[in-house]
Amino acid sequence: MKNNNPLQQAIDICADDMQRVNACIHDNLQSDIAMIPAVGHYIINSGGKRLRPLLSLLTAKMFDYQAQRHIPLSVVVEFIHTASLLHDDVVDSSDLRRGNPSANGVWGNQASVLVGDYLFSRSFQMLVQDDDMRMLKLMSDVTNALAEGEVLQLSRTFHLAMTEDECLEVIERKTAVLFAAAAEVGAYVAGQSDEVVKSMAEYGMCLGVAFQLMDDALDYTVETEQAGKPVGHDLEEGKITLPLIHAMHQDAALLERVHVIAERETEPYQGDDRSWVRQRVLQYGGADYAMQRAQEYADRAKKCLPNTTNTTIRQLLCDLADFSAQRTV
Ligand code: IPE
Ligand code: IPE
Ligand code: MG
Ligand code: MG
Repeated sequence: MKNNNPLQQAIDICADDMQRVNACIHDNLQSDIAMIPAVGHYIINSGGKRLRPLLSLLTAKMFDYQAQRHIPLSVVVEFIHTASLLHDDVVDSSDLRRGNPSANGVWGNQASVLVGDYLFSRSFQMLVQDDDMRMLKLMSDVTNALAEGEVLQLSRTFHLAMTEDECLEVIERKTAVLFAAAAEVGAYVAGQSDEVVKSMAEYGMCLGVAFQLMDDALDYTVETEQAGKPVGHDLEEGKITLPLIHAMHQDAALLERVHVIAERETEPYQGDDRSWVRQRVLQYGGADYAMQRAQEYADRAKKCLPNTTNTTIRQLLCDLADFSAQRTV
């Protein structure tokens, strides 16, 4: 029976490569400091979607790449993602990730930060081994942008005047640049022209924006069990995301209530507040608006895909762009 879920299709098509990726992940989590493989394996085997390495693998396959550089480079992409999650859960005081206690919940904040650092530095050792200045530059720029995005977001905590453009700037840096790099890697190792490599990077960038916009919508639309991470958590952490921005523009009562929440120092944002805010954000179309913007980015992503002879994978990349804007997980 044909599986219509594009993520599963990607996993099926890339099964052999993905096995190599997993073996490479395993090899690169070895350390004589026992806590490193312990925390590393815990997070890396906890059921992440592996969407970013899948994009690298699929892109390389679409361009009929025959060698093996895409394997360690896909691992670098997943390591950078994983390191960012280890740090993000500390910064966001989040105790649940992929339906399990987050690494900081199990080992504490210090271990999460330090193992995150290990994964970042391991990624750069792997890039040195790959020995291509262009890939080193790409991934160092990505890591730098990611850090800037997280710091920018932090500096905008409870910034109620946050605009849609500011919101997109955070999203591009903290999330989309890594998706752009994931797609770029596949085209670059396969020896595509600068123009094609650039188009694939743009595809990844737009898909990444769609992916994060959807993540921000899901924080208001689904329950914790479905998300596998705390929901309603963005405002709790002072993150003014697009669903909230849009709804606050429509609803003065919501804006006022968020003001009160932002000013309050002791009482936690929970229970009544949380369900009231969620309900108003939904009622005033905040989540729908973010999802609509996500679909616009997914449509832009699809338009960036170059014509290739491998129409099956090209179509799958289109479907993955739509998935990013329509996903429920
Ligand atoms: C979570 O990314 C972080 C965001 C950019 C929203 P994913 O949803 O891809 O995380 P996993 O790896 O599948 O858990
Ligand atoms: C994405 O932002 C995190 C990174 C890019 C590191 P979020 O904070 O929204 O991600 P989740 O919701 O915790 O997965
Ligand atoms: Mg977070
Ligand atoms: Mg989120």
